[in-house]
Amino acid sequence: MKTALVTGASSGIGKAIAEALLREGMSVIGLCRSVDQLGDGITPLTCDLREPQKIKSAFSKLDHLDILVNSAGLAYLSRLCDGDPDQWEEMWRVNVHALGLCSQLALSLFPQTGGHILNLSSMSGHRVPPTGGFYASTKFAVRAVSEALRSELKSSGNKTRVSCLSPGFVDTPLLDKYFAGREEQLAETRASIDMLTPEAIAATAVHILTAPEGVEIHDALMKSADQTM
Ligand SMILES: NC(=O)c1ccc[n+]([C@@H]2O[C@H](COP(=O)([O-])OP(=O)(O)OC[C@H]3O[C@@H](n4cnc5c(N)ncnc54)[C@H](OP(=O)(O)O)[C@@H]3O)[C@@H](O)[C@H]2O)c1
Repeated sequence: MKTALVTGASSGIGKAIAEALLREGMSVIGLCRSVDQLGDGITPLTCDLREPQKIKSAFSKLDHLDILVNSAGLAYLSRLCDGDPDQWEEMWRVNVHALGLCSQLALSLFPQTGGHILNLSSMSGHRVPPTGGFYASTKFAVRAVSEALRSELKSSGNKTRVSCLSPGFVDTPLLDKYFAGREEQLAETRASIDMLTPEAIAATAVHILTAPEGVEIHDALMKSADQTM
C-alpha cells in the first residue's frame, strides 16, 4: 500500500486530494494546523508550515513515503505598491519555502525506485492577473522550484517524479481571504463563473499520481470553462 502525505489536507483542494487518495487505497497522512478538520481515515500530522523547525520535527516522525502533495498555501491580495510586507512573508514562507523544505525532507523517505511530488501552483503562476500582487510571484516560484528540483533529480539519476497542478478559480475558503474587503466582487465572481470544485482538482491529481511508470506529467493547467482570464 502506498503512503501519501498531503499538506493543507484540512481544507479545500488538499482535503479533496487526501480523500481521493484514500479512496484509491492509499494510506494518507494529512499535515496542517487544524487536524480536527481532517477527513475520516486520514492520519493527522500537526505542523505550522511557517516554522522550518516544526516542519523538520514533523517529518522526523515519518519512516516512509511514496507521494508528497504540497497543497498548503494562502493568498492575500497584497499589492506591490502598498501591500503589507508581513503578508508577503507569510505567503513566501508557506507557499514556497515550506514547499521546498517538505520536498527535500520527503526525498529521504521515498523508496530507492523514486517517489512522486505534486505541487499546487496556479494559473497565477502562468500569467499575472491585475490583482495578482505578491501572491502571483509565489506561484511563479512554485513552478521554478518544481523545474529546478526535476532537473537536479534527473542529473543524479533519481527517478522521483515532480508534477504541478495549476488551477484557475476553485471555490474554497482561500478565496474569502483573497477577496477580504471585496466581498461584493467575490459574490459577482461566484455569480459569473461556475468555479472549479476541489473534487475536480482531486480527480486530476489522482490522474497525475497514478500515471503509468515512466510518464511524468509536468503541469496541468485547469480553468472553469467560464473563466476568461
Ligand atoms: N482556491 C483557488 O482558487 C486556488 C487556485 C489556484 C491555486 N490554488 C492553490 O491551491 C492550494 C490549496 O488552496 P485551497 O484553495 O485549497 O485553500 P484553503 O481551502 O484555504 O486551504 C489551505 C490549506 O493550507 C493550510 N495552511 C495554510 N497555512 C498553513 C500553515 N501556516 N501551516 C500549515 N498549513 C497551512 C491550511 O491548513 P490549516 O489552516 O489547518 O493549517 C489549509 O488546509 C494553495 O497552494 C493555493 O495557492 C488555489
